[in-house]
Amino acid sequence: MATDSNKFQAIISHCKEYGFIFPSSEIYDGLQAVYDYGQWGSELKKNIKDYWWNSMTRMNENIVGIDAAIFMHPTTWKASGHVDNFNDPMIDNKDSKKRYRVDHLIEGHAELMEKDGRLDEAKALLEDMDKLLAKDDFEGLRKLILDHGIKCSISGTANWTDIRQFNLMFSTEFGSTVSADDEDNKVYLRPETAQGIFVNFLNVQKTGRMKIPFGIAQIGKAFRNEIVARQFIFRMREFEQMEMQFFIRPGTQKEWYEYWKAERLKWHLSLGTAKEKYRFHDHIKLAHYADAACDIEFEFPIGFKEVEGIHSRTDFDLKNHQEYSKKKMQYFDNDIDEKTGKPYGNYIPYVIETSIGLDRMFLLVMSNAYTEEDLSTPEKQDSRVVLRFPPKLAPMKLAVLPLVKKDGLPEIARKIMDDCKSHFRCFYEEKDTIGKRYRRMDAIGTPFCVTVDQQTKEDNTVTIRHRDSMQQERVPLTEIKRIVLESTN
Ligand code: GAP
Repeated sequence: MATDSNKFQAIISHCKEYGFIFPSSEIYDGLQAVYDYGQWGSELKKNIKDYWWNSMTRMNENIVGIDAAIFMHPTTWKASGHVDNFNDPMIDNKDSKKRYRVDHLIEGHAELMEKDGRLDEAKALLEDMDKLLAKDDFEGLRKLILDHGIKCSISGTANWTDIRQFNLMFSTEFGSTVSADDEDNKVYLRPETAQGIFVNFLNVQKTGRMKIPFGIAQIGKAFRNEIVARQFIFRMREFEQMEMQFFIRPGTQKEWYEYWKAERLKWHLSLGTAKEKYRFHDHIKLAHYADAACDIEFEFPIGFKEVEGIHSRTDFDLKNHQEYSKKKMQYFDNDIDEKTGKPYGNYIPYVIETSIGLDRMFLLVMSNAYTEEDLSTPEKQDSRVVLRFPPKLAPMKLAVLPLVKKDGLPEIARKIMDDCKSHFRCFYEEKDTIGKRYRRMDAIGTPFCVTVDQQTKEDNTVTIRHRDSMQQERVPLTEIKRIVLESTN
């Protein structure tokens, strides 16, 4: 498995050093698998959100967006199957008291075997694990762990408990007078945004006078008590999802599933990423709600991993909400069925879901952009770190830099700022040499820097520097806004 852990570590450090991502509550040593987005990280994240939102809702006339609450009626999670099925098999080490997700523990051991060159043994171990997981054979899995002498990395022992299912939902209570174990008042932090869409299906359909096929999109926080939460923002306990549920006529799910697979890959490629960095991975073990599912995987520095899921969810969710709520979740389709010559009539729609993790998409964009360049010449050693973001996602679009802090140059630069800042995010800086300022802008991925110099006063031109090529050209002041808007919109 080709991984580049050095690059991954470099990206994590870069994110911290340049204000993209900080560990949450760092002054208290952080909170595991929870992160805060800093000044440039939050801009980048917002741009990714906007790009997804606009391509889903603006570019598709039959898709509208909503913003549902994180808290939902607890029965939602009974109906969705999350109370009973949203589990992972876990095992505890009795000596260290550390809890492991069984598949991660075994996969970790297989990775060590691969590093030792025992590739066939590692492959066989993973195959055995997959078979046992598919059967929920916990005794068999425990035996597999013991037979391979898999040990806890903290205690170094193989003193394992039995394997148990562990629900991944966080819960809390409503009101001030209830006790924590009062099941009736237990509310969950939603583990997916999708259910906020399902319970609002008829509200949106009726008030928006939507006709099938149509979609509802949403961006929002989701929470999962991931046991082995590591690999930076790849697996977090609090994260954001960008989900779209597409409601269709039963029986048409295969063609819409293929349609959305193709559409979503197109969206990823529209950001200029190389096609070879992506692949589809079909699910063999399907989630409790799906009749077909696949992941779009991206080649992160830690290997090919899931960034987005496309799921054919049948009528599982709407049917269950109808059953639990006793409210009709049906749609009346007055289009004529060619086979019968009559309207399709009442039915519970089927659903194709596209679900992408915003934080994973952030990591994807960052991994793709992060470049260390050797710029050495025979005379001088030199290098730079540049974030080659697609300009439309870059947190900062333009830096405005007076060459010196005098002779009226800052005043001209300020005028450029005033002219541009209501159109896109601009950054003004007059400290340090121009070379240092360029490097700082490269490190946060700013696609354009304009430098105001003495010549500007004479002919109203500036140099504009292009981030990726580092080429500079002289352009009239009046052209700056157009150049930036043209490549960042
Ligand atoms: N509504 C379907 C659903 O939630 P999922 O495959 O469990 O499906 C969808 O999650 C996407 O959410 C994943 O492809 C991933 O990008 C993101 N995601 C899931 N768990 C995550 C976590 N713990 N941290 C960050 N992103 C996560």
